[in-house]
Amino acid sequence: MRIAVIGLAGVGKKHVQVFSEIAELACVCDLNEEVLNDTSSKFGLKGYADAKEMFEAEQLDAVSLCTPPKSHAPLTEMAAAKGASILAEKPMANSVENCRKMIDVCKDAGVTLMIAQKKRFVPTVARLKELTEGDLGPIKFLLHRYPHPGMSQKDWFWSADDGGGPILENAVHAADTIRFLCGDVERVYAEGSTAFAEHRAPVINCAVYTVRFKSGAIANVGAGMASCPGFSFEDFYAATDKGVAEVSGPFDNADTIRFAFRENPKDVTEEKVEGADPFLLEMQHFIECIEQKKEPLTSGYEGMKAVELCLAVKQSAAEGKPIDLA
Ligand SMILES: NC(=O)c1ccc[n+]([C@@H]2O[C@H](COP(=O)([O-])OP(=O)(O)OC[C@H]3O[C@@H](n4cnc5c(N)ncnc54)[C@H](O)[C@@H]3O)[C@@H](O)[C@H]2O)c1
Repeated sequence: MRIAVIGLAGVGKKHVQVFSEIAELACVCDLNEEVLNDTSSKFGLKGYADAKEMFEAEQLDAVSLCTPPKSHAPLTEMAAAKGASILAEKPMANSVENCRKMIDVCKDAGVTLMIAQKKRFVPTVARLKELTEGDLGPIKFLLHRYPHPGMSQKDWFWSADDGGGPILENAVHAADTIRFLCGDVERVYAEGSTAFAEHRAPVINCAVYTVRFKSGAIANVGAGMASCPGFSFEDFYAATDKGVAEVSGPFDNADTIRFAFRENPKDVTEEKVEGADPFLLEMQHFIECIEQKKEPLTSGYEGMKAVELCLAVKQSAAEGKPIDLA
């Protein structure tokens, strides 16, 4: 399987490393000459500064988009037109309209579209999902703390028509994970703040939001760039009719799950998963979905619904009222 990676300065480095190990990395692309030369020389790959030129010159089975969200829709259109499947980094796009465009062009071209919402591949999150689809039963009450321990200085990250700030650009991870665990959202109400990044106002840096799901479950999420490296953590607390569970650990590496059943409430089971690489699991899934013509776990539809939820959080915070997503 011949794959190309577009966007090499940040997370693209990880995509290049993993795809070079599990597929045939055909070439790489980046607008920035220095960034491009750095990766193409390190991996001995042909490099392109222009994606259009790359798609014209290369026969590709798939492409990985590691560029800012605003570019995901136009690059997806180019890739799909050449019959290449797409793994697009999160957030899927800068608007729901562009997400829809991506889904439509991929459907028309018959290529796979997967969104790199890697949290679904974190083993403890997958285990929580398995438990709540099994012995624990469906989640009725969920708390998710997701305070990023850093602060982005990238202008595109904060730009209203691109990354949209931390609530969309980064906390789309939280939005996608709660949807993974609890399903479609009915209504969301958010309070947002520009705290810790006042110079980026009016774009909010952090938010606390309450969600009602179509299943009847309720959740509360705290997200944004509100922590610091000494306090690197993220966690979930879930309650069901039959028991409770908690997933916790360092930010981006929630490696521990504990759970108990109400019929035996003091008997707590703890499982720890060390050394897992959600990026690797995600990229293996992408290849498997192309080869087996399967719908990815993080399909275009799922990516679009996570973007929609983040935009509703921002809208609710701006307008001071709940937003209905039904
Ligand atoms: N899954 C994760 O954990 C994770 C982590 C970081 C970033 N991301 C996502 O990855 C994407 C990129 O983020 P980043 O932090 O790596 O960005 P970045 O700014 O560090 O790097 C982006 C690169 O893309 C290049 N680029 C931009 N537009 C291009 C185009 N049209 N053609 C070719 N090259 C182009 C830029 O020159 C730059 O080198 C974002 O959507 C972000 O949310 C995901």
